[in-house]
Amino acid sequence: MLPVLSHNLSRCFPVTDIPWYDVGDGWLSGCDGKTLRALDDGSMRSVLIRLQPGHAGVAIDAASSTVQGFVLSGTITLGGTVLVAGGFFVIPSGADLPGLVSEVGAELIVIFDDAAIGPASSAEAVLLTSAYDVEPIVPVIDGVRLDGFARRVLWEDPDTGADTRLLTVPAGFEGKGPNWHPVHEEIFCLEGDIGPDDSRLIVPGTYLHNPAYGVHGYHEHSKGGATILEWHDGRWAVNFVS
Ligand SMILES: [Fe+2]
Repeated sequence: MLPVLSHNLSRCFPVTDIPWYDVGDGWLSGCDGKTLRALDDGSMRSVLIRLQPGHAGVAIDAASSTVQGFVLSGTITLGGTVLVAGGFFVIPSGADLPGLVSEVGAELIVIFDDAAIGPASSAEAVLLTSAYDVEPIVPVIDGVRLDGFARRVLWEDPDTGADTRLLTVPAGFEGKGPNWHPVHEEIFCLEGDIGPDDSRLIVPGTYLHNPAYGVHGYHEHSKGGATILEWHDGRWAVNFVS
């Protein structure tokens, strides 16, 4: 049976458009946050976090969510490992989540994966001092090799197929037209420019959410090339709308 598709439900905004708020209790207590996406039950899926210099957060025993983080600026220490901009971590659900520490302050994207609630995730912890060190692959979509693209898969959940990627798009990119995925796709632009359509342009600090089964990418294009962080809540696949 064909899935029911939606149209024009993508959300795209510069994070400067939304205010900081005090995140409150739990692992992120004492942090400022900007919610990028909350789930229908109100829980946080992805959030931009700002740590003040000297931040020392609480550790959580046997975390109920898998927690991912990508450092945008500053420095964090997680369980004794120092991560600077471009650093990335994953602590799977069921594992102990060390407290976030920052001597000089930091900003990072934090992503919570609740899909594995119940039995502990079988994922391994990941600590990458630079996500850019991951060996890139050239994506192949519909049998076409996308030369000039670099896809770095930073993590893939062995239980759900959810993943997080660093994707570099070449200058002059023109997409194949409107498409959809069976999973939610979230994007944060790190460098360059990339437009999902003719009305919007994504530049560093812009967030984009393409809902599952939502048609988007009516005119994907990049003038100067771009690097984006992209994360999905299940196994990603692309379907073009003819
Ligand atoms: Fe997409």
